[in-house]
Amino acid sequence: MARIIGGVGTTHVPAIGKAIGEGLQKDPYWAPFFNGFHEVHRWLERVKPDVAVVIANDHGLNFFLDKMPTFAVGAAAEYRNEDEGWGIPVSKSAAGIPELSWHIIETLVEDEFDITTCQDMLVDHAITIPMSLMWPGKGAWPVRIVPITVNTVQHPLPSLSRALKLGRSVGKAIESYKEDLKVVVIGTGGLSHQLDGPRAGFINKEFDLLCLDKIVNDPVALTRYSNRQIIELAGSQGVELMTWIAMRGAMTGAVRKVSSTYHVPISNTAGGVLLLSNEKAPAGAQMR
Ligand code: DHB
Ligand code: FE
Repeated sequence: MARIIGGVGTTHVPAIGKAIGEGLQKDPYWAPFFNGFHEVHRWLERVKPDVAVVIANDHGLNFFLDKMPTFAVGAAAEYRNEDEGWGIPVSKSAAGIPELSWHIIETLVEDEFDITTCQDMLVDHAITIPMSLMWPGKGAWPVRIVPITVNTVQHPLPSLSRALKLGRSVGKAIESYKEDLKVVVIGTGGLSHQLDGPRAGFINKEFDLLCLDKIVNDPVALTRYSNRQIIELAGSQGVELMTWIAMRGAMTGAVRKVSSTYHVPISNTAGGVLLLSNEKAPAGAQMR
């Protein structure tokens, strides 16, 4: 059976792609953020996942305001990136695993999630940047992916509670998949940021640190915030936190924090990286 070995939460700012393109990982501006991935690389080297289920939000490359699914799941053999207009290099494609995608889709629908299924799907910086951060280098990425997108762009947005439930259903789906695969679940976005309007540049370190703690220890506590409250506390794009909550929801076992980094700012955003190990829970233990 497939097994969830861990979860990663990471910021996905496009400027990271430009920094990678220009080899600026050791530059004083960038180093504190990129250094947060050393521990992730050591962990990946040790656990060697076969698949990454990537929960992200699309920023207009694949879906736009005219058609915006609340949740969409990719079921393609390959996911291409295209010029997104951020001045970042167009990324290599990611390989898919359609059979697992369909298994996740079937489980989500059984669990009453009305999702959009995408046999053709582009992926934007929210997926390509985390992939490049986790598996740097020129060759093909060593994992196949299942992309899942959550609408954080066009209101009404799904609630944080719904995102947590989506993650739980995804976790259940992965662990009932017949093939022996090691799976890492990635949530990408956040932490606090606002890209436009009078509060452009808004960052809330205190709230971000609270989120970093609650994602590990008490994700349900975060679901008590409405999206309006999250926007007030974390900025209008801070709602991308939803993807981290969904990632956490997919952790089926006892969660152990392996590492966490917080660095402000990366472009306009509070840069966060969180690595969780999903461990076998002791018998009778209550999860989450
Ligand atoms: C930035 C952050 C994002 O999450 C994004 O999708 C685009 C830009 C930024 O801080 O520049
Ligand atoms: Fe974003």
